[in-house]
Amino acid sequence: VNSDLEKIDPLSLVGAELSSLTDNISRMLESGNPALSKVAQYYFQSSGKQIRPLVVLLMSQTVNGLVQSEAYKSALLRDYTIIDKSVPQDLVGDSESVIRDNLIRKALSESLNKSLYTPTFSNQGQVILPTQRRLAEITELIHTASLVHDDIIDNSPSRRGLPSTHQVFGNKIAVLAGDFLLARASVSLARLRNPEVVELLATVIMDLVEGEFKQLKNVNGNNQETPKDTQANYPNEDIFSYYLQKTYLKTSSLFAKSIRAASILGGAPTEYVELSYIFGRNLGTAFQLVDDLLDFTATQTQTGKPVGADLDLGIATAPVLYAWQEYPELGELIKRRFSEQGDAQLTWKLVHQSSGIQKTRKLVMEYAERAMAALSLFPPNASRQALLQLAHSLVYRKM
Ligand code: FPP
Ligand code: MG
Ligand code: MG
Repeated sequence: VNSDLEKIDPLSLVGAELSSLTDNISRMLESGNPALSKVAQYYFQSSGKQIRPLVVLLMSQTVNGLVQSEAYKSALLRDYTIIDKSVPQDLVGDSESVIRDNLIRKALSESLNKSLYTPTFSNQGQVILPTQRRLAEITELIHTASLVHDDIIDNSPSRRGLPSTHQVFGNKIAVLAGDFLLARASVSLARLRNPEVVELLATVIMDLVEGEFKQLKNVNGNNQETPKDTQANYPNEDIFSYYLQKTYLKTSSLFAKSIRAASILGGAPTEYVELSYIFGRNLGTAFQLVDDLLDFTATQTQTGKPVGADLDLGIATAPVLYAWQEYPELGELIKRRFSEQGDAQLTWKLVHQSSGIQKTRKLVMEYAERAMAALSLFPPNASRQALLQLAHSLVYRKM
């Protein structure tokens, strides 16, 4: 699968779109009140990774104008049935059930053997619809709104290499700026005139809040949903699945539902709409797992935000949960949310001594592979290849 992956740079396909996206957003944020505009535009002076609009735009190109030969359609239906049967939950619920590896691999290898799927890498005639372009802007607006609020909640000093919004403008103004970004996104969303897409993105906003709430309860204790017995008896599946569920809500949901919305706006057949969702959900989870990993392995210069922040906030992510398997004494520290002197330092050390980092990376690969498997069921074109490459290289991202 990977041999052809290095060939297409996603930015060669949608780089120009992405730079006009930032300009459009800035213009969109002009309001009657220049002071308000200035705060709302603040995080957009440094464009960030723009990963959400990037995948929305590439998925739009992938689905738009799908040429559907009858042979292709029946092959797709067959493969889709395999996936669908394996995990009906994955398509409907928000639980973190995932496509079973063996089945998706089977579908993948079968499809790659079919001449029908031979990549042509052509993007001829593939356009991005204006509504899909708006959607890409909306995803970045919602994401940025959540970051402005997140930085207040996390008391984080920096973002995108800049002092964070509340550091510069104060908490009250930062809360309002986040609200304004969200409100602006909502107006844009309504203008798409597509109730299904409105519902999807509105649900994303709920998910973001719920994910953040789940994490907060994790930090502050008296959390009924977190299993009480966090003694030295890990592996505790409940705790890991709580973590994955929170990850779905705070990150994967926006990826999954906005990519799904891109397919809906492109008029894609239901099978592709579902596959887009599966792709986005797995990509989003892989992405957040890497984020949690980078909190242990990156430098602030690379990420533009402080490292080691999760431990300081009392949050145990995958590397810690895995390390706990090897160092049972971590159970106590996790339980008290690294609140005592030296807890965070000891945890940091044990995580690096353990295979927690390695195991998290392996988990990232599994999610990335599931994302790629879902993508492989789309007809080949350059945009699909770029998305494949993105999912592939995400595992090793450094920022
Ligand atoms: C970053 O996570 C934050 C999120 C993924 C979501 C935050 C959501 C809210 C604050 C709820 C409010 C939502 C809206 C739409 C206003 P992180 O803190 O783990 O990552 P970081 O290291 O980038 O700060
Ligand atoms: Mg946070
Ligand atoms: Mg944060």
